[in-house]
Parts: sequence; C-alpha cells; structure tokens
Amino acid sequence: MTKSLSELTRQAKEDISNCSSLKELDSVRVFYLGKKGKVSLELKSLSKLDPKERPQFGKQINEIKKTLQDKISLKKTELNTQKIKASIEQAAIDITLPGKTSSIGNIHPLSITLNQIEEIFINAGFLVDDGPEIEDEYHNFTALNIPGNHPARAMHDTFYFNNEYLLRTHTSPIQIRSMERDGVPIRVIAPGKVYRRDSDITHTPMFHQVEGLVIDKDINFTHLKGILHDFINSFFNDEMSLRFRPSYFPFTEPSAEVDLLSNDGQWLEILGCGMVHPKVLDNLGIDNKKYSGYAFGMGVERLTMLKYGIKDIRLFYENDLSFLSQFK
Ligand code: PHE
Repeated sequence: MTKSLSELTRQAKEDISNCSSLKELDSVRVFYLGKKGKVSLELKSLSKLDPKERPQFGKQINEIKKTLQDKISLKKTELNTQKIKASIEQAAIDITLPGKTSSIGNIHPLSITLNQIEEIFINAGFLVDDGPEIEDEYHNFTALNIPGNHPARAMHDTFYFNNEYLLRTHTSPIQIRSMERDGVPIRVIAPGKVYRRDSDITHTPMFHQVEGLVIDKDINFTHLKGILHDFINSFFNDEMSLRFRPSYFPFTEPSAEVDLLSNDGQWLEILGCGMVHPKVLDNLGIDNKKYSGYAFGMGVERLTMLKYGIKDIRLFYENDLSFLSQFK
C-alpha cells in the first residue's frame, strides 16, 4: 500500500473514533466515502495508473472502503447505544428518594371551639340558630332595649353602613330574630361573627360570640347559673371556678359578667349574661307575666385562648401554619 493510502486510512480511522455524535459520524462518512469523498476520489484516479497496477490498487482501495464502512457501522452502534443509555439515565426514577407527601390540613382552633360549644349545648337540648352579619339598627339595638339616645350605643364601636345598616356588634340580635320567627318557649344558641372598631393584643375588629337564649315559664337565675357551670366544666373537661359579677346590659335585668379562674390564679371575663329584660319580651309581643328567661353571650376567642394558653388573639387570623397545625 502506498504511503498516502495508508496515511488516508489512518486519518479516517482516527476521525471515526473521535466522533461523538451520529451527525458527526455521518459527515465523516461523507468526507471519506461519499461520491466526492477522499476514498472515492482515489478510485477515480485508477484511470491514470498503469493498467498493470490497476487491479492491485483497486483491490486495496476496495479493502480500505470495506474497513472504513465496517468501522463506521461499529461506531454507529456504539453511539446509538450511548444515546439510549443516556436517555434512560435521564428519565430514570430514583426510587431511594423520599416521597412527596401532601400534608393533611386540620381544623382551625376557633372552629374546634365552636364545634365543641355547639355539641355541648345540643346535648343540653338547645337548637342552633343563625342570623345576618349585616344587621339593621332595630335588631342590633332598639329591640334589645337600646334606644337611639342610649349611651350603650356608644359602648359598641360600631361599623355603620348608613343610618339603618351596620355590622352586628354582638350576636344578641339573633335572640330577637329567633323569637320573631319561632315565638316562645325557646331554647337556642347562635354562634357567629361580630364586629367592633377595636384592634390590639386582646381585640380584633372581627371576633366570634355564641349567644344563648332560653325563654319559658318559671325560668330563673339558678337555671342560668346551672347551665353555665355545666357548660364550662364540660368545655374545659375539669371542675372550674366561676364568679358572677353584677353588671349592666340594657337587654337583661339583673345582669352579670362571668369570670373564670385561670390556672395562674387570675379571674378572666368570659361572658355576659342575665335575665332577659321584660321590655325585650314586650317589644316582641310576648307576655312577660307568663314568660321569663335568660340570655348569655360568650367570647369564642377568649375561651379558646384560655383553654390552650394563647396570649395574642391576632394569632387566630395570621394563617401561620406552624401555629395552626398544633391543633389536631
Ligand atoms: N351581647 C352582650 C355583649 O356582646 C353579651 C350578652 C349577651 C349579655 C346576652 C347579656 C346577655 O357584650
């Protein structure tokens, strides 16, 4: 074999092995074996040779052609295998990785409290009622014996829409609506959101109350004390101390605020209550000689904070999962 032929072969072999993609390999193939490729040109140059040398030279070039074709096809298989291997590796699933779990939500602490309050009172024979959050001033104030000029209106920092409509400042208007609809005797609780213009570590502009109302014949203050003691012991699952402190609400007479003795020896106010004022019954056309009853309104946030030792009321509304997920 001539020097130039063996050099050509060596170079072609080197180029083939250096290919790193099928595309590159194809250009190398065209470069050497294509119609105008180096090896093909050598074949064409046969005509210029002495006829005696032609068979020998031709044979050599054909052998080179065959060798290079074989080498290309081997390289092609190799590159194909590599390509498949790479794509398998890329798509592979690492089964030793920890799985992605979707965490399960839990009930908001205030909803837990509301559910418990409802359950306790339902077991004591109460129905659960509801009322509008956008209330008129008649149901929020007037019907509850708080006339327009009454100072108690100023006690509630009310969000007004206009002269007539407001965001209810307590759940007591539901008392009125329940009696308007169902008359007496009645035994209901009414949980819900209430609104006041107030915001600090113990107040938020929106909070929750549960109203209670019992009207029947021969209802007196001991019934009220009894139901509240039973409720509190059941809610805290413990024997708790309550203090009934004389107070004033225009819609109850007598009225009391109830304090609960906390673990650290402090009395904390949890609700307002009293015997429904005869004038409230009168406003609704209910015979207040025949019927009497009691009402109470308790703060749901306050009860929840006492139960779980939560110090800042705003935590309930910050949607911080590290806080919320503690209440399973
Ligand atoms: N509505 C009163 C308040 O929000 C609480 C209350 C309810 C008091 C029922 C007496 C009777 O402060």
